[in-house]
Amino acid sequence: MKYEQISDKLFIKNRKKFMAQMKPKSIAVFNSNDVYPVSADSTMPFEQHRDILYLSGADQEETMLLLFPDAIDVKHREVLFVRETNEHIAVWEGAKLTKAQATGVSGIKTIYWLTDFDKVFFDLMTEADTIYFNTNEHYRQAVETQTREDRFIEKCKREFPAHQWAKSNPILQEIRGEKEPEELDLMQRACDITEKGFRRILRFTKPGVWEYELEAEYLHEFIRNRSKGFAYTPIIASGNNANVLHYIENNQECQSGDLILMDVGAEYANYSSDMTRTIPVSGRFTQRQRDVYNAVLRVKNEATRMLVPGTIWAEYHKEVGKIMTAELLKLGLLDRADVQNEKADWPAYKKYFMHGTSHHIGLDTHDYGELKKAMKPNMVFTVEPGIYIPDEGMGIRLEDDVVIQETGEPFNLMRNIPIEAEEIEELMNS
Ligand code: GLY
Ligand code: MN
Ligand code: MN
Repeated sequence: MKYEQISDKLFIKNRKKFMAQMKPKSIAVFNSNDVYPVSADSTMPFEQHRDILYLSGADQEETMLLLFPDAIDVKHREVLFVRETNEHIAVWEGAKLTKAQATGVSGIKTIYWLTDFDKVFFDLMTEADTIYFNTNEHYRQAVETQTREDRFIEKCKREFPAHQWAKSNPILQEIRGEKEPEELDLMQRACDITEKGFRRILRFTKPGVWEYELEAEYLHEFIRNRSKGFAYTPIIASGNNANVLHYIENNQECQSGDLILMDVGAEYANYSSDMTRTIPVSGRFTQRQRDVYNAVLRVKNEATRMLVPGTIWAEYHKEVGKIMTAELLKLGLLDRADVQNEKADWPAYKKYFMHGTSHHIGLDTHDYGELKKAMKPNMVFTVEPGIYIPDEGMGIRLEDDVVIQETGEPFNLMRNIPIEAEEIEELMNS
């Protein structure tokens, strides 16, 4: 791990919050992700499942967490199973968690080797009535791969058909949505690393630079600051490429007169940051680019002010749509007739701004979190309006990550990342 060890206090608190919502005589189990294959003997870099990470801090494959608040033997109320390490593994793969280290990371006293899981689990299931399964109910999920969680659920249903089943996901959606102070610090660190990357880019960009060269500059800055890299596949889109919302080729030369939309964020300790900035290749915006840029910035600033306790996500999106409509009218991109004739399910502004404004962010870039209930303090959201004009060869999006406060405006984790057009021009020309 490149990141500094996180205090086990965070995971102790997280488990306490989860267990407080469990039914009497119930067990919850959480699995690591698989190490996913490429082909032959190659594998993708390991990414820990965010739920077991959130509840234990164990950032290692083949780990299982068992929570059983009503276990008769106190030592079985929280149990972490880790892959048994040995000299051979140490030589070929490097050190894995010892039992003492697993306790140090997670704050869990009872650590067993994974090979003991079936025996211990069978015994504890005789004391339990309900088993919590960790299914994925994220609103954007579209997973075709069978995960370790899926395999575990199938096995349990076969081997323990008389137990009741319950869902971990609604509990996790709720508790992961409201961040602890330790998590906000880690997210601030991810945003600060992204800031370093962006400042490097402002110095580096000039006509003739290639999109992939900018990607490389970001990655260099991220890794040298203890990030393992991008929190999500970066979008470095010059000119009209910005109008392909999920453009990730990043293989074109940046031309003078064009803008570059960069949707890039560093991860730190598995926490995401998610930033978008749009800059002029030449270091100066044209008047038209500046007008559209400032319109997007005003929408972002007004939308941000609405992220307060009590706001309902869907209603907020409707309000942002109204603000965007007013800006598009001023820019001459829409006229009154477009707005009067708009359909309720496809407002006119969507021709130029067709994606959402905000999503929860945390351990996942599109994080878990309640969307149907009112917003609460310490939820972290992105704010990311954009205006996309293929006919003019430009697309502009601006995106910051903000924390909802008890009172007043949200706290912007990206407050130090340049965003005013004038500041960007000044930095690019200094
Ligand atoms: N970078 C992904 C997003 O903005 O949602
Ligand atoms: Mn983004
Ligand atoms: Mn985003």
